[in-house]
Amino acid sequence: MARTVVIASGKGGVGKTTVTANLGILLAMTGKRVILADADIGLNNLDVALCIENRVVYDVVDVAEGRAGLRDALVKDKFVPTLSVLPSAKANSSDRVRAAAFAGIIAEAAGMADYVIIDAPAGVDAGFHRAVSAAREAIVVTTPHVSAIRDADRTVSLLSTYNVARIGLVVNRVRGDLVTKGETVPPEKIAELLRLPLYGVIPESDAVGVYTVLNSYGREGAAEAYRMLAEYVEGSGKEVYDYTRRYRGFLGRLRRF
Ligand SMILES: Nc1ncnc2c1ncn2[C@@H]1O[C@H](COP(=O)(O)OP(=O)(O)OP(=O)(O)O)[C@@H](O)[C@H]1O
Ligand SMILES: [Mg+2]
Repeated sequence: MARTVVIASGKGGVGKTTVTANLGILLAMTGKRVILADADIGLNNLDVALCIENRVVYDVVDVAEGRAGLRDALVKDKFVPTLSVLPSAKANSSDRVRAAAFAGIIAEAAGMADYVIIDAPAGVDAGFHRAVSAAREAIVVTTPHVSAIRDADRTVSLLSTYNVARIGLVVNRVRGDLVTKGETVPPEKIAELLRLPLYGVIPESDAVGVYTVLNSYGREGAAEAYRMLAEYVEGSGKEVYDYTRRYRGFLGRLRRF
């Protein structure tokens, strides 16, 4: 049975879809069978982000309503053969997939994979409920901004009312220069405030996209940060990306300047 992990945030636009895609790609690159499930039903972000929207034949609504089987709906990634995506559906379809039906689909997916990673929608309403009800683990994504941390805190409280056994934190868009200058909250402090283990830190980077991790040069360390996150989740690594390294020493002071 797969580990079922929901990627949630509360606040929108903090990087859930980016984290889902990059983490999924990296885990799949180690040979693990990974299914990414887009729970943002009605917005279908993940298939667009992974550039597979032209290959979508059936989506999660078709599966929920019995027009297609799960296997028919899964779209295999072009680059990583052990990665596939369960696409969400177009606009105005969110009400058509109830939480119990979605959980059933995820349970079936779990029988076919090592990881099922669920990309949750923003907010904490029905879409959140559906996404979280289907998972046994959660990763909360936040940025170092106060409004995002506050929403993450609400999300963590809500998660405790679900059957989620393990919760971890990813702090995204971290600027090592600002942390070094004391102008923003360090990720470790955010983890402490939220009382969550820090699974990963992803630096702010122009180079961040869905295929960040396939770019082996990974400008500004984002690719390395994602690699460390995947190792943490998988259990083979216990360190997070050193976001201040670039800003220490003489060159670092120059960069900060
Ligand atoms: N580390 C980063 N550095 C810079 N930009 C980033 C980083 N991570 C994500 N972004 C950018 O932030 C934007 C939002 O990311 P993403 O779509 O992953 O967020 P989301 O939480 O899924 O949003 P939504 O709540 O709308 O689903 C995207 O344009 C993405 O490229
Ligand atoms: Mg998203």
